[in-house]
Amino acid sequence: MNIKLSNKNSADVKADILIEFLSPEELSGHVETEILTKAGFKAEQDSTCFLHEKGLLVCGVDEQKSDDIRSAMACGIKLLKASNYESAKVNIHSKKTLAALVDGIVLGGYEYDVYKSKPKKSTFKKISLTADGLDFQKSEKVFNHAMIIAKATNFTRDIVNMIPQDLHPQTLVTLAQKLAEENKLGCTILQEEDLKKENMNAMLAVGRASVHGSALIHLSYTPKNPKKIISLVGKGLTYDSGGLSLKPATSMVTMKMDKAGACAVLGMIKAASELELDVEIHAFIGAVENMIGGDAYKPDDVLVARSGTTIEVRNTDAEGRLVLADVLDYAQEKVQADFIFDFATLTGACVVALGPFTTGVMGHSNKLKYGFFDAARHSGELVGALPFNKHLKKFLKSEIADISNTSSKPYGGAITAGIFLDKFIKDENKEKWIHFDIAGSAYTETPWDCNVYGATGAGVRMMCEYLKNIE
Ligand code: BES
Ligand code: ZN
Ligand code: ZN
Repeated sequence: MNIKLSNKNSADVKADILIEFLSPEELSGHVETEILTKAGFKAEQDSTCFLHEKGLLVCGVDEQKSDDIRSAMACGIKLLKASNYESAKVNIHSKKTLAALVDGIVLGGYEYDVYKSKPKKSTFKKISLTADGLDFQKSEKVFNHAMIIAKATNFTRDIVNMIPQDLHPQTLVTLAQKLAEENKLGCTILQEEDLKKENMNAMLAVGRASVHGSALIHLSYTPKNPKKIISLVGKGLTYDSGGLSLKPATSMVTMKMDKAGACAVLGMIKAASELELDVEIHAFIGAVENMIGGDAYKPDDVLVARSGTTIEVRNTDAEGRLVLADVLDYAQEKVQADFIFDFATLTGACVVALGPFTTGVMGHSNKLKYGFFDAARHSGELVGALPFNKHLKKFLKSEIADISNTSSKPYGGAITAGIFLDKFIKDENKEKWIHFDIAGSAYTETPWDCNVYGATGAGVRMMCEYLKNIE
């Protein structure tokens, strides 16, 4: 689909359909009120009314604001893609809602049909955004940035949606190498032999029963004179069966998404390099498959992590934190970053705490957390803070090792997982680190906002917004 920003007057742009957004308050003042009302259209958020004879598609919004327009545009684009029209146009009234419109079109119109033998063919080819009356140069910049970020989000979605047969640790390595080549990024890969030399025993234990070798991927984007250096760390469990603490059958379905943190940081570094941001970015990924077998690591094992910390394994399904323990330790040694942000589909408890739409934000620095509240709000992502405390920390006590990989109590599981990671953050980095639990937000089986079935690309839009505004 071709998406074009034009400085022409809407009347001068040829298109089959004109898209309009209308709130309930505005309905009575619309030129087509009578016919819209006859059709039973109330202009409610995400409702649509197609007036074919008028060449008009009206999309309902609560208010004329970004969040509402993003969601309404996503509903509209789905209708257009299912129609037999070829083109549409939409008039932009404000620069503020332009990025939201792009998100609605690019993200709401996303479909993953790689595994369909007969993918749907759409006749819909072109959508024009007319910015007549706005500062075109400024609008163009907003448009181009929004397109890069939305496409990077879909890149992340594409990889998360790949099946575990096709996307395992070694194919993730190939994919990262391809991205590095295309975007001129630095690329270092540590294979199992290298991981052994690095004493990354926690990460290696998780992947031991898999037929696919585990790998650590390090990509870097290094512009001249960067304002800041950022390390991004991603959980890349290409499949999480739970290991010997095997997941119930119904919980295992969708666990191809356990690599969403890794795919998100790939999307972030892709976007950052295409936006040519003045920020040095390092993406570290632990690519591992958690399987069962004679060689599998076991509940009762004690692992010596790269940092030297010993970990009692009480549940092999709490594997993400084991992988991240070693990758975080490695990342902190290799790069002296100003900030360290990790992304992981870490706990079901985060979904229970915040619901399936919201990313959990954890860390010691309130200032850093607040920065992300703003970035999330402006980008259209949802985040919520989950606070650490010293009492919850006691739940991770082990009788035989330095720390247990699971909590002794069934409460506050997202936070205790975050506190586990904190054990591997060096003292000098405590205030520089934020952990994002995207277990709920990374994947959906019911469409919401501009998200369709499958991976959402959670984290990419928010992080790009944050990086763009970093001082
Ligand atoms: N990958 C899962 C977490 C998850 C759950 C992600 C649901 C997305 C949706 C993680 O490895 C896991 O299994 N966590 C366990 C931890 C428990 C054993 C302490 C969980 O959440 O149940
Ligand atoms: Zn697990
Ligand atoms: Zn997992």
